[in-house]
Amino acid sequence: MNVTKYKDSLPIPPVLKPINEGEGFTYYKVEMKECKVSVHSELPKTPMWGYEGIFPGPTIEVESGERVYIKWENQLPPVHLLPIDFTVHGAHHNVPPVRTVVHVHGAVVEPESDGYPDAWFTNGYQQVGEKFVKQVYQYDNCMNACTLWDHDHAIGITRLNIYAGLAGFFLVKSEKERSLNLPTGEYDIPLLIQDRTFNQDGSLYYPKQPKEPVEELETSIVPEFFGETILVNGKVWPYLEVEPRKYRFRVLNGSNSRFYRLKLDRDQYMFQISTDRGLLPQPIGIREITLAPAERVDIIIDFSNLGGKRITFINDAPAPFPNGDAENEISDVLQFRILPEVVYIDTSSIPAQLEQLPFLSEKNAVKRRDLTLNHLKDKYGRELMLLDNKGWDAPISENPKLGTTEIWYLINLTPDTHPIHIHLIDFQILDRREFNVDKYNKEKVIEYLGPSMAPEPQERGRKDTVRANPNEVTRIIMQFGPYSGLYVWHCHMLEHEDYEMMRPYIVIR
Ligand code: C2O
Ligand code: CU
Repeated sequence: MNVTKYKDSLPIPPVLKPINEGEGFTYYKVEMKECKVSVHSELPKTPMWGYEGIFPGPTIEVESGERVYIKWENQLPPVHLLPIDFTVHGAHHNVPPVRTVVHVHGAVVEPESDGYPDAWFTNGYQQVGEKFVKQVYQYDNCMNACTLWDHDHAIGITRLNIYAGLAGFFLVKSEKERSLNLPTGEYDIPLLIQDRTFNQDGSLYYPKQPKEPVEELETSIVPEFFGETILVNGKVWPYLEVEPRKYRFRVLNGSNSRFYRLKLDRDQYMFQISTDRGLLPQPIGIREITLAPAERVDIIIDFSNLGGKRITFINDAPAPFPNGDAENEISDVLQFRILPEVVYIDTSSIPAQLEQLPFLSEKNAVKRRDLTLNHLKDKYGRELMLLDNKGWDAPISENPKLGTTEIWYLINLTPDTHPIHIHLIDFQILDRREFNVDKYNKEKVIEYLGPSMAPEPQERGRKDTVRANPNEVTRIIMQFGPYSGLYVWHCHMLEHEDYEMMRPYIVIR
């Protein structure tokens, strides 16, 4: 795609206004609509789907503990923007092609409002999926301050609905966080990073077939999608003018399959202050950020000695990750242009202590689950990835008891890193350890080949998505609650999630 890099400025999604704020709750309405988006000034406008008709959707800001009701309304046309594969789970010809359901990724929420993949609904709720319960979702937000995002989760077409534009930020704020005096207001900027490919006429391109086409099918799912351009907040390769002072950036990888390894091109230091689900105990100095799809970090960059200069966020992650082809790599992301002077004196700080982390002890775990990540071939010869060797429709096997702590062993038998996401809870990464894959395949026993490796400093906080690397057992620990009921866990590479790499799970009372 030949467009000038760093030509357009970074858009910042507007904050959504509530319809009303009652006693003890706030009510929002969000309409999903088709819209035309200018993704780059040198391209014709792109037909997309957006929450409130914009891409990215408006940012929803809530207070920790605030009860929020949201009515997500589907006002989309009856024909999909992108090619549907009718052979994948839940996407057969017996369901309407355009169906949506909204999940707030990382939210602690009752199951009826979690956006279960089979709880989809169409325009005007004319048709609903078998697990549909209600129109107005309730979020109690009983969590600490963190950077979440809302996105589509409809069974079998999540990759297409998110690619079409159905994603936005959902930020939880708190008094406790405000008391830390971090950069705030216009100095607190969310960055949604995604990759897309566009046709000459500006429309979205999404492949109808994998590299080796499946002849029997008109449209087939692809094993992964990698776009040719990088968008930040819906603009292709934008720039951002900043003052020479501290900024907080909430960085989210909202891509279908692409991982990022971001650095500033002057090897500039950054301070990471949070992981997926909230603040770290202390800020940590980093030069590089690795983000799998759906992972987030909040960072502080101090531009104060850089007045008048330009620095660029660059990416060197292979695609697929970690053993990808160089041809899929894209290095440019976002450029910062530092103004010569500050507008106001920077009185924000990077405190030495942020927030205590609740420590989950292995001793308290009542259950260990060994869960494999498998790769097979389907009857068309396509790549098929599974969790625990089971498809989406197999009976529920993960059924933790409310309030109990479990350790999950993610045993990756595939050659790729998969970002594994569990709804409802946050977890901590215990360790990763290399093991003998061949032996496991033959005898189903884990033979470790190396020492246990602690999570990277960047991951030592509350997580809801973890990178399970090839040839490694990744161990995570979590306590299930405060809600019971039906949720899901899955790989967050959307092409995998849509094609069987997702499982229901139930928290039982
Ligand atoms: Cu980001 Cu199951 O979702
Ligand atoms: Cu995967």
